[in-house]
Amino acid sequence: MTTAIAGSNIAFVKYWGNLDDALRLPMNGSISMTLDAAVTTTAVEFSPDFSADSLLLNEQPAAEAAVQRASRQLDHLRQLAGVATRAHIVSSNSFPTGAGIASSASGMAALTVAAAGALGLDLPEAELSKIARLGSGSASRSIAGGFVEWYAGARHDDSYAVQIAPPEHWDLVDVVAIVSAEEKEVGSTAGHPLAHTSPFYQARLGELQRTLPLMRKAIFERDLELFGELLEAEAISLHVASMTSRPSILYWTAGTMTLLHALRGWRQRGTAVGYFTIDAGPNVHILTERAHVPALLEQLGQLECVASTLVCAAGQGARVVG
Ligand code: PMV
Repeated sequence: MTTAIAGSNIAFVKYWGNLDDALRLPMNGSISMTLDAAVTTTAVEFSPDFSADSLLLNEQPAAEAAVQRASRQLDHLRQLAGVATRAHIVSSNSFPTGAGIASSASGMAALTVAAAGALGLDLPEAELSKIARLGSGSASRSIAGGFVEWYAGARHDDSYAVQIAPPEHWDLVDVVAIVSAEEKEVGSTAGHPLAHTSPFYQARLGELQRTLPLMRKAIFERDLELFGELLEAEAISLHVASMTSRPSILYWTAGTMTLLHALRGWRQRGTAVGYFTIDAGPNVHILTERAHVPALLEQLGQLECVASTLVCAAGQGARVVG
């Protein structure tokens, strides 16, 4: 049995829409931070005694669709190892599943690393990233730690993520404000194929050519103001594309919007500093430097729409722990 741990990640420049849905080759490159306090721990054991793959998720037998997705992920590694042995997987998240904190990213990264270890495959990080990508696009970024860029590529072999700066490069913190811990209705897997149906999607892709180098610069220079401006514009761009796809997907709830207005108000009044981004769900990730966290948490505590908060710094990449 091999156990691995992987952090989720928050994308500053986001992945939305595929060049190839089956291979999860993205239309654009993306940049993220791997999170230290939103992690999945996964143990995998292969045995000829098992007749089928099984998955225990957060101490419950997982739904059939989740077992099949995990099983397909194991198939990639079984093929590399030249075996057909079935596996038992035991996985748990340190945060609510399916609520805009990417459990698929940490989950697929942890599963990939644990299963590779259990099969005795010694794969370089880029290879693990490519395999994780096949299970969930954003999982490709959770293989690496700190600040990470996923090169879009145009083929399986050139679409993978690498670290662009280590965790200690910048004391940036993601304060996740959970406005709803319920499962979202339309996951990102259903969202990506719809991206192309938005009339604003091509404009988004064009804008990303400008955003990507500027975001790299903001991170390298630890320029919080430039970073924040790019971060919010990029999140809004993704959600414009999702809201205007056919059918339209609305990830934001009333609580999401209340929080966005509140955050901008705090910034204007100088009572708290932070910048938002939002994934495929209602929760708001507020990025700021650690020194600003106490004031931000105090303001968030006064909002009724915020059910709970989770503070994450830049964390390590996926790794075997036992
Ligand atoms: O990797 P997926 O299919 O869960 O897609 C992730 C999509 C976003 O979270 C909205 C953006 C991103 O890059 O993480």
